[in-house]
Amino acid sequence: MGKGTALITGASSGIGAELAKLCAADGYDVVLVARQRAALEDLAFSLSQAHGIAARAVIADLAGPASARAVFDSAGAVDILINNAGFGLRGAYAGTDWEAEARMIQVNVTALAHLTKLYLPGMIARRSGRILNVASTAAFVPGPFMAMYYATKAFVFSFSLAIANELQGTGVTLTVLCPGPTRTNFFETAGTADTNIIKGPSMSAASVAREGYGAMMAGKAEIIAGSRNRWMIFGTRLAPRRLLAGIARRLNSPA
Ligand SMILES: NC(=O)c1ccc[n+]([C@@H]2O[C@H](COP(=O)([O-])OP(=O)(O)OC[C@H]3O[C@@H](n4cnc5c(N)ncnc54)[C@H](OP(=O)(O)O)[C@@H]3O)[C@@H](O)[C@H]2O)c1
Repeated sequence: MGKGTALITGASSGIGAELAKLCAADGYDVVLVARQRAALEDLAFSLSQAHGIAARAVIADLAGPASARAVFDSAGAVDILINNAGFGLRGAYAGTDWEAEARMIQVNVTALAHLTKLYLPGMIARRSGRILNVASTAAFVPGPFMAMYYATKAFVFSFSLAIANELQGTGVTLTVLCPGPTRTNFFETAGTADTNIIKGPSMSAASVAREGYGAMMAGKAEIIAGSRNRWMIFGTRLAPRRLLAGIARRLNSPA
């Protein structure tokens, strides 16, 4: 018998695809959730072949308000829930498209919160389960020109630590992963491919996923990926927020 089932949102590329590979290599059956059918089906096929596990794709647009419920109904009970799907949006807030901002809140915040709510009662009843929510180092600073994206990640971070605390003694753990800049499709999608942030150091999606997976399996409440990012975020504790907003403004500006 297998170890159980892991559901990974945003598994069609980047950090989510790497997390799915780690779950499968560890012996978990996987349910891969995203919009891009071909990418999900290719990954499901290669993981089932490589690791002898069951892998299937659930095609879902998590920007739809009923999507979390539909994913839950389709996937059934899982032992691991990884809320990784997310995207960014760049631009001065006065000029961005509200529909796009609202979709981002729905994917980054609402779907993550709803899936957590749907899966927790079953996990608590079984006294076993692990949840990994993907936030960002953006959670720790105000982010001019990506204001809503940074704020969605601040939500994910605060929300996750609170639920992790509520879960003490239940046998269920929740971990929040904060990656810094990571080489994925994120910057193209967010419209930040020409900004200062991608001129700086970055990590591979595989190494971020490894740190997140290890922390989740160890039942840690939080993990900032990479020692450089850990030191940087430690430094933000001492700096005035106004100064941090200025630094983020430079990072989110064209290089
Ligand atoms: N890359 C970075 O520098 C970085 C830093 C910190 C945090 N993060 C976070 O890491 C997570 C993964 O991003 P990534 O860097 O791996 O970027 P990515 O390669 O662009 O992956 C994003 C994933 O989210 C899925 N997704 C986006 N919109 C969706 C929707 N409406 N419905 C369902 N799935 C959707 C995408 O799948 P489909 O397009 O197939 O739907 C894709 O699988 C995100 O939460 C991101 O905010 C990234």
